[in-house]
Amino acid sequence: MSSDKTATVEKQDSGGPVPRHVAIIMDGNGRWAEERHRPRLFGHRAGVDSVREIVECARTLGIDFLTLYAFSTENWNRPEGEVSGLMGLLKNYLQAELTTMLRNGVRLQCIGLLQSLPDDVLDILQRTIEETRACTGMTLNLALNYGGRSELLSAMKEIARQCQEGSLDWQSLTESTINDHLFTAGQPDPDFLIRTGGENRLSNFLLWQVSYAELYFTETKWPDFRKEQFLKAIESFSRRQRRFGKTGAQIATG
Ligand code: IPE
Ligand code: IPE
Ligand code: MG
Repeated sequence: MSSDKTATVEKQDSGGPVPRHVAIIMDGNGRWAEERHRPRLFGHRAGVDSVREIVECARTLGIDFLTLYAFSTENWNRPEGEVSGLMGLLKNYLQAELTTMLRNGVRLQCIGLLQSLPDDVLDILQRTIEETRACTGMTLNLALNYGGRSELLSAMKEIARQCQEGSLDWQSLTESTINDHLFTAGQPDPDFLIRTGGENRLSNFLLWQVSYAELYFTETKWPDFRKEQFLKAIESFSRRQRRFGKTGAQIATG
């Protein structure tokens, strides 16, 4: 099957610069369901439809990396039935989406400590990562059992170990050394971070990587966050002036 970027995907114009890497904290599924007097899993199921729509839209906009926060290290503390329901949905999503990913040139990658996931989920994840390896259209990063602090701690331990054994010299450590030891090694930092569901916090997501990301918080709960809301968010990004410490005049004159 073709993974050629131009084969089946018609590019869409957002009217301004699109971010290269969008990260999303997909929040609000549970409250969305509770508002409808339905179990929380009903909200998670509706949230999967949003995932499909946003992945497709990101791909057509020409976004290179889309990182979705799907399960945090803290989410293990939820009731057992909800955790196993989420794992089941993840497994079904991956099984159902492989053909579409290949058709649209979407490469799957994961960030997080995958070893703690149930074996059947781990198995389909690894197979999907392998089968989409040659896709060059967009990288879909699923953050699973992900926690920003534990990611940084692992990176620091590994760097310390390499310094101790002599393969790294502490005096020559740079920011790139840290980048290279994170799950996101080799990927650009997110330039746009969206959180749905009305909370204004990071919840341990990509703490190092979002240091200069543009932030976008919306009240819209994840199951209601579809193409229209995503385009609105991207338009907001397109209108912003990113100054990186300089003055507006410096940016305007290049
Ligand atoms: C986000 O929705 C999905 C996951 C964290 C897995 P929530 O389940 O957190 O929904 P709310 O925040 O309780 O509404
Ligand atoms: C963040 O949402 C994690 C994911 C979206 C996977 P949470 O709902 O778990 O975050 P808190 O508990 O509100 O901080
Ligand atoms: Mg939540």
